[in-house]
Amino acid sequence: EKGGFPHFMLKEIFDQPDCISDCMRGRVNTDTCTVTLSAVSNYKEQLLRAGRFIIVACGTSWHAGLIGKQLIESFCRIPVEVEYASEFRYRNPVIHPDDVVIAISQSGETADTLAAIELAKSQGAFIYGICNVIGSSIARATDTGSCIHVGPEIGVASTKAFTGQVTVLTLLALALGREKGTLSEEEYHRIVKELVAVPEKMRTVLKQHLFIADFSKMFTYARNFIYLGRGYAFPIALEGALKLKEISYIHAEGYPAAEMKHGPIALIDAEMPVVIVATQSPLYEKVLSNIQEIKARKGRVVAVVTEGDTVIRNLADYSIELPATLECLNPLVASIPLQLLAYHIAVCRGMDVDQPRNLAKSVTVE
Ligand code: F6R
Repeated sequence: EKGGFPHFMLKEIFDQPDCISDCMRGRVNTDTCTVTLSAVSNYKEQLLRAGRFIIVACGTSWHAGLIGKQLIESFCRIPVEVEYASEFRYRNPVIHPDDVVIAISQSGETADTLAAIELAKSQGAFIYGICNVIGSSIARATDTGSCIHVGPEIGVASTKAFTGQVTVLTLLALALGREKGTLSEEEYHRIVKELVAVPEKMRTVLKQHLFIADFSKMFTYARNFIYLGRGYAFPIALEGALKLKEISYIHAEGYPAAEMKHGPIALIDAEMPVVIVATQSPLYEKVLSNIQEIKARKGRVVAVVTEGDTVIRNLADYSIELPATLECLNPLVASIPLQLLAYHIAVCRGMDVDQPRNLAKSVTVE
């Protein structure tokens, strides 16, 4: 059942290229480079009149929501708020009838997310669900939505559901952006074409599995980790830190890289590992100077870079190279090495990665 892998988590990490293909099947036409989401076709009017999107979710699904915000704002020019469902439901939030709430939940049973949906519904908002489990409470409570189709996720730490959620959010933003005309035809086709190439790029990243396993041994001593990223890579840093906390019990914090100098830089010394996503982007030079600042303080840098980046390779203690892709699609590729890093550090520390202490796969109580 684990398909020859020692843990479900590792199997699910390796399943991701196929999962993303499954998620795109029937939705992405690879000949015409177009996207069809049935929920968008069937509820076009409700979705296009949205004045604002509010994404509600918890944990890893909330991190996917942060990426969704950037995708929707950039492709559709509609403001998006991302809320922890647990905070939203108790805050007496402002909800308008022309708000569209996007609820993201792998299990479809998270109590706080369900309650946030009920609250938004009672105020007249339209609810779009992004779930994995078909027929779950959240899937049933929404007006429409899109399943992520990644298959059952057994490992408690979410991996393939995360990339599936990000894929659906990308498809949603593309479909809406095209309908609204906020995304040029040329950009739209270019992004769809690159999206189709993502599963193959994920496979290339997975080939670095043994290299990551090998250097992970160097970090079993650590009590703390910092994860940094900017733009689309900031939520990847948060998600990488959450994965490490959950399964290795090492304390980890994710920050936007530029926030480092506003506090966390005080923590950096020769003992402090810093994982930094420094792939090609308009902010590359700024992230590079963050790495220089960390090295000047003797921090230990694990950098996730675009292949061929010799500058950072010479600077970082370890660098993991990713195939180049569009910045907006980078989270799908860049989250994989951080999942593998968390996995291997946890395994080196002798932890039960599929059943971490104190955690449940679905959080049906608040
Ligand atoms: C992290 C993790 C949790 C869940 C969170 C929401 O690996 O699994 O943070 O993401 O409990 O669960 P769902 O998506 O089922 O609502």
